[in-house]
Amino acid sequence: MWDERYSTDDYVYGTEPNDFLREQVALIGEAPKRVLCLADGEGRNGVYLAGLGHWVTSVDASSVGLRKAARLAEHKGVALTILNADLTEHEFVPASFDAVVSIFCHVPAAGRPHLHRQVIRALKPGGVLILEAYTPDQVPRNTGGPDTPDRTPTAAELDAAFAELEIALSRECEREVIEGRGHTGPGCVVQFIARKR
Ligand SMILES: C[S@@+](CC[C@H](N)C(=O)[O-])C[C@H]1O[C@@H](n2cnc3c(N)ncnc32)[C@H](O)[C@@H]1O
Repeated sequence: MWDERYSTDDYVYGTEPNDFLREQVALIGEAPKRVLCLADGEGRNGVYLAGLGHWVTSVDASSVGLRKAARLAEHKGVALTILNADLTEHEFVPASFDAVVSIFCHVPAAGRPHLHRQVIRALKPGGVLILEAYTPDQVPRNTGGPDTPDRTPTAAELDAAFAELEIALSRECEREVIEGRGHTGPGCVVQFIARKR
């Protein structure tokens, strides 16, 4: 499905970074840091972070999306490490990243416990998780996001999954999400920030 959606010349979610990431990016710290960008799709967030001087690994299940991410990185003159993997199965090297960025990473509920454990595992002590995703309240809207609640987390789910981290922010809110033609208006999101102890 994602390969098909990304098989266009334009960038479905644009080439500018996600608003929440831009707001919170200072939490990653002074570059260069090792940053893992989950479900980075066509690379707008990974390329942004690489442009700030970070060493970024962009992971996604869509090879078409990742080819576009590589093209965007080349166009912007930045380096991006690309990893084509299914996040519901992939295992990361322990304590290998200073930050994990998860923007609109919507995997099925059955795969999320594995992914959440991998996020904790991949973070170095002191490393930060920055996450924004649509919540179940977004599903009936037509401004973007999954068409099934199964792929959408709640703040309560994230609080429980990341209880061993120091949670700095966990909120559900509505905000205007204008990010490419894929995200086109008021959206119900969860915004979550936590740091590994
Ligand atoms: C809504 S897009 C968001 C892309 C990017 N984070 C952004 O904000 O522009 C969701 C992305 O999740 C990826 N994805 C969905 N399921 C996945 C999985 N199981 N493993 C890895 N990536 C997955 C899709 O390929 C797609 O690129």
